[in-house]
Amino acid sequence: MLFDEVIRKREACRKFSDYKLNDEELDKIIEAGRIAPSAKNNQPIKIFVCRSEEALKKIDEVSPCRYGAPQVLLICGLKDQVYKSNEGDTLDVDCAICATHMMLEATNIGIDNIWIRMFDDKKLIEAFNLDDNLKPVCLIPMGKRSEDAPISPKHNIRKDKKELVEYI
Ligand SMILES: Cc1cc2nc3c(=O)[nH]c(=O)nc-3n(C[C@H](O)[C@H](O)[C@H](O)COP(=O)(O)O)c2cc1C
Repeated sequence: MLFDEVIRKREACRKFSDYKLNDEELDKIIEAGRIAPSAKNNQPIKIFVCRSEEALKKIDEVSPCRYGAPQVLLICGLKDQVYKSNEGDTLDVDCAICATHMMLEATNIGIDNIWIRMFDDKKLIEAFNLDDNLKPVCLIPMGKRSEDAPISPKHNIRKDKKELVEYI
């Protein structure tokens, strides 16, 4: 798919079919995350592919937003590897870039997805037994849109360029 098409086709999916990604699809998506840029190239990221019944049950216990996806990426930041300066650290930014790369690659190969922040951090850390070094940043349910999936209500609502940009 052309890049212009990918960025327009990506749309939050809030109802998935039972389609399970094959290894080739998963590898391609993860590779897009692997090559994402990060501050100082520190790559302070860990990706968990949640697809076992047990892991998916845990996701449901900590978030109402799996939307039936049979696989969910859990993207965590590695606190001890992140670039830090007097201005703070880049953990969330590094993770966000990695996650966005993966979402766009997923869209590129026909895999629907959505970014989820609505989860209980404490419960998630406990459920997955994450050590103190890991900061959960987002969940990305992935799969194929169910036929009766709702349209993403805010997908076409974007600020006008005039409001967004100031040329100085
Ligand atoms: C940082 C971030 C957090 C989000 N968290 C949630 C969430 O917890 N639950 C949800 O249903 N959608 C969530 N979304 C999806 C947004 O609501 C959606 O991207 C936005 O409404 C624009 O729609 P579109 O993605 O279809 O263009 C999140 C998106 C982002 C980027």
